[in-house]
Amino acid sequence: MKSLLEVEALGRTFGSGKRTLQAVKGVTFSLAPGEIVAVVGESGSGKSTLARLILRLLSPTQGQMRLEGRDVFRIPLRAYWRMVQAVFQDPYSSFNQFYSVRRLLQKSLGLLGPLSSQEREARIRTALQSVGLEPEGILGKYPHQLSGGQRQRVMIARAIMLRPRLLITDEPTSALDASLRATVLNLLKDLRQEQGTSIIFITHDIGQAYYLSDRILVMHQGEVVEEGPVERVVEQSQHPYTKRLLSDVPRFHG
Ligand SMILES: Nc1ncnc2c1ncn2[C@@H]1O[C@H](COP(=O)(O)OP(=O)(O)OP(=O)(O)O)[C@@H](O)[C@H]1O
Ligand SMILES: [Mg+2]
Repeated sequence: MKSLLEVEALGRTFGSGKRTLQAVKGVTFSLAPGEIVAVVGESGSGKSTLARLILRLLSPTQGQMRLEGRDVFRIPLRAYWRMVQAVFQDPYSSFNQFYSVRRLLQKSLGLLGPLSSQEREARIRTALQSVGLEPEGILGKYPHQLSGGQRQRVMIARAIMLRPRLLITDEPTSALDASLRATVLNLLKDLRQEQGTSIIFITHDIGQAYYLSDRILVMHQGEVVEEGPVERVVEQSQHPYTKRLLSDVPRFHG
């Protein structure tokens, strides 16, 4: 199958001299259309840095990327962000606190170019409803007036409203309680099912990765140390580091 995204020997170094830190080292993988790949690894293993590189929020110090066969760095940023969207761990920091939810979502829709006001309103309402938010109650609110779970769901609505080809989610459920967590995971599954969206799902929770993804990449100190179909990685993990991650999840013991 033709790849949606190809990442080749991608790397990012921070600092210089003795203080150099290679946050991401030689990461290579590809993602098929409609595929869900989980990126797991403990805190500091480079997951968010990898996400920021793929999103072009950060420049790589090594490597290449292609989206639908095109060199990513030759695609204008706005066009790129129409195709590649993200949901972050901490939605509060990604909001402009002076924007109401309506204004925030309208701003994001601006990426799609001119749309009629009816179409904008319809897209916004549909996206909010799909994440279980009642548009009337939420459109006029400001970020500080929302709960953590509501903020996270507004971020998800914002991303899926643009109908990206690739969605990168970085710990999208960390601010949510158990039932909302399940809602969000199922929403991501539906998104792939209904729109063929590819997803890079970043988590430290290998249980969630198992539930949602087709394939898992395990990161350790900036490198991908294990990669494979989800069952193989979970049931016959090769790398000692993966075994350790799995042993933290009660249901995978023994
Ligand atoms: N802008 C930066 N400047 C310097 N170092 C950075 C920067 N961003 C990340 N790092 C370092 O890169 C390493 C990887 O960080 P990253 O945020 O990618 O980890 P992570 O796997 O997402 O961790 P977590 O699970 O805690 O979110 C860490 O050692 C971090 O301190
Ligand atoms: Mg992170």
